[in-house]
Amino acid sequence: MSDRVRRDTKQTVRGEMLMNATGADRATDDLTPVDPRCEYLVNPLGIDVQRPRLSWVFPTERRGARQSGYQILVARTPETLAAGQGDLWDSGRVEASTSVHVVYDGRELRSGERAWWQVRAWDELGQGPFESLPAWWEIGLMEPDDWTGRWISLPAALHGAPSDQSPSLSPCPYLRTTFTLSRPVTRARLYATARGLYEAHLNGQRIGDAVLAPGWTDYSTRNQYQTYDVTDLLHQGSNVLGAILGAGWYCGRVGFLGAHSNYGLVPELLAQLVIEHPDGVVTIVTDDSWEGATGSILADDLLMGETYDARAELPGWDLPGASGDGWSAVRAGDRGQTPLVADRAEPVRVVEEIVPRSLTARGDHVIVDMGQLMTGWVRLRAEGPAGTRIQLRFAEVLNPDGSLYTENLRGAAQTDVVILRGAGDELFEPRFTFHGFRYVEVSGYPDALTSERITGRVVESATERTGAFACSSDMLNQLQRNIVWGQRGNFLSIPTDCPQRDERLGWLADAQIFARTACFNAGVAAFFTKWLNDVADAQSADGAFPDVAPRLVDLADGAPAWGDGGVIVPWILYLCYGDRRLIEAHYGGMARWLAYLERHNPDLLWKNRRNNDFGDWLAVGAETPKELIGTAFFAADARLLARMARIIDRVGDAERYEALADRIAAAFVKAYVAPDGRVQGETQTGYALALQMDLLPAALRPAAARYLAEDVERRGGHLTTGFVGVSHLCPALTETGHVETAYRVALGESYPSWGYMIQHGATTIWERWDGWTDERGFQDPRMNSFNHYAFGSIGDWLYRYVAGLDVDPERPGYEHVVIRPYPGGGLSWARAEYRSVRGPVASGWKIEGEALTLEVTIPPSSSATVFVPATDAATVTEGGRPATEADHVRFLQQEADRAVFAVDSGSYAFQVSAPPS
Ligand code: BGC
Repeated sequence: MSDRVRRDTKQTVRGEMLMNATGADRATDDLTPVDPRCEYLVNPLGIDVQRPRLSWVFPTERRGARQSGYQILVARTPETLAAGQGDLWDSGRVEASTSVHVVYDGRELRSGERAWWQVRAWDELGQGPFESLPAWWEIGLMEPDDWTGRWISLPAALHGAPSDQSPSLSPCPYLRTTFTLSRPVTRARLYATARGLYEAHLNGQRIGDAVLAPGWTDYSTRNQYQTYDVTDLLHQGSNVLGAILGAGWYCGRVGFLGAHSNYGLVPELLAQLVIEHPDGVVTIVTDDSWEGATGSILADDLLMGETYDARAELPGWDLPGASGDGWSAVRAGDRGQTPLVADRAEPVRVVEEIVPRSLTARGDHVIVDMGQLMTGWVRLRAEGPAGTRIQLRFAEVLNPDGSLYTENLRGAAQTDVVILRGAGDELFEPRFTFHGFRYVEVSGYPDALTSERITGRVVESATERTGAFACSSDMLNQLQRNIVWGQRGNFLSIPTDCPQRDERLGWLADAQIFARTACFNAGVAAFFTKWLNDVADAQSADGAFPDVAPRLVDLADGAPAWGDGGVIVPWILYLCYGDRRLIEAHYGGMARWLAYLERHNPDLLWKNRRNNDFGDWLAVGAETPKELIGTAFFAADARLLARMARIIDRVGDAERYEALADRIAAAFVKAYVAPDGRVQGETQTGYALALQMDLLPAALRPAAARYLAEDVERRGGHLTTGFVGVSHLCPALTETGHVETAYRVALGESYPSWGYMIQHGATTIWERWDGWTDERGFQDPRMNSFNHYAFGSIGDWLYRYVAGLDVDPERPGYEHVVIRPYPGGGLSWARAEYRSVRGPVASGWKIEGEALTLEVTIPPSSSATVFVPATDAATVTEGGRPATEADHVRFLQQEADRAVFAVDSGSYAFQVSAPPS
């Protein structure tokens, strides 16, 4: 069984690792570069980074494989590149092993210009060059003046009477323009965005496969546009460009208290179609020549759902020659001053379909079980008389009697309605809403609903899966699946807290706690890069990061552990991706945040401006003093900023922040730590923070760790941590030698624990430990989501401690890998695989009889320090030979229970006949 799972995991990770990447399927042992990336993306269309960073990897697992040099050629055309010339940039041969974030240093590109590039690499013996396949990036509209269109919307008369509730509950605008092309088209790009949501159409076809575009930003600060290659959709003669608009985050409901119209009152479109002919360029823009109408989408709202009346469809509305009945001139505003920025992350897409697990008839409706708590919607087929009204309600869980439990959705109706037009087989899929659900209640369905007629459509920011963790515990494997589903369901344009109730906000604490786990599971660098701009947009004039970004509904300045996300997330991205540019971009903002804390808390305890002061949110059975939490984060911020200052060569700042961090830590100890190492409140979170944030004098650490472990043991292996402490608990226990206690917490199945959620049917991570208990049933519906990722931050421990796959902060982005597994908990094997920016990394161990095997893979040009569980290095073999003599393995030192080796790139299998128990 375990072997089968291991092989499956390996295959899955491998399959996904090398998929979707230019040339990545070339299995080769030489140093052919594959998977060329620009700003983390494969061939990005329409970016606005003038000096983008280029990266590549090598598919070989050959030991010692190392790039000794590279040359990047960047050319205007693929032909020039094929001729071996870089007319935009030729880096020349650079003697370096770096293959990540090489900054393009060629001629500045103009709006719309595409750069073709290729990298050549030489291996460790100087052999080469080995060439990658060509890749490209394309610049979007760089200059504000490039945009000549105007924001357009439906004339007020067509919006219907202004709704007393929300504009999202009035019909969706359809907008279009017709134009004639008299010459062949050589190339065409559509640049489009909306205040609201848009789905663009050209000549009867939907453009692209993104949904919920343009995504969520603070629309009053920046509008994010997408770029599409529409060359093949145009033709000589008459053409129609159109768009359907939705309310989305702009004017629909977001957050709690029924808040809507947060940025504006009606959705608007801004688009620019740039058409190149052999002898010139024609540009079609949104302006007052467009016309608008309403059609079959009678209401749309992210929280409330969508109502679709097929009888009101506008057949052929986006085709030349369509009827003009019901259409009238649009309202055109000006372009405004708000910056337009290129979307730089993966679009939101439908990424998977789910066949329902079961359908159960209940009175006049059917309950459909998707078998998985997911985010998205369903596609429904139906056939029935015109006017048949089918209603779909969505919920995460069921009441004990089998009916939908919707109380926890609060004000989010999550209800879609379809009205048939009576035209045979009809297909419905919403455009401008999403739901968090496992169950769908279908009523009014005209005949027998079957699983072929209703399909779950999983919607998420389409980040690639990069990591996999598996082990011999079925429970932990299910936990890992639940964590991944929690991430998928909540990474939708921004990292949200939950996808179902009237909230769905970008809470900073949730994000900072989970970010490290997220970075393992998926390629989230581009996603977080975008969101960190939202965080920056949300910083107050006084320097405060917010609780939520975009800053909306909860307008407060950040509470401890919330605002600090603005410092912690860039640091985590630096560790995981080696992204120094993010530090540079956000350094000023982070410094302002720290200055704000310092200014308002001169005695270095975070007493003032704790704002919403959530404390260790949703902790159970213990309350950590809030001032202590705040002060711990204050110190952590100063320490991280000191490190980041050093990384970007601000030595003076670094010294100042180091001193500040030391002073805050000293103030922490003085105020909250007793001479015997007891931390005020004596809670797990208090101890875990003090240990993990390095606040204690070395002499007090063992005692503090012992109190922590004792608290866990005294509670029968149970945790008391909330959002703030949860991700630090198992690492703190593990690093201080209480490995079995950490496993006890992680593997526990009685309340409160991850296992308890799983035993009660969780397929994602619950918001609260007590979301449902045997004694009490459901928690207070006013706050009880079944899909919140914060407690899923244990995932980081699974990868980094159980499997032992970690980065070296001194050489981040897996340039130097630290392999240090902690076998325990009765597990017989565990394995993590991760596709890093430098290529595949893996760490897996298994115990057979007495012997332990540790398998390690390190990407080309990288190296690793491997801590093999062994009390005597002489007993360690690698590939059957004494490890001290193995190729590309160097013995470093013997620690009490670890033999430490240095290895180069490649795959290794260490064996210990009698590892320490
Ligand atoms: C959200 C959390 C968030 C919290 C702030 C809740 O309503 O769902 O995830 O961090 O508020 O305490």
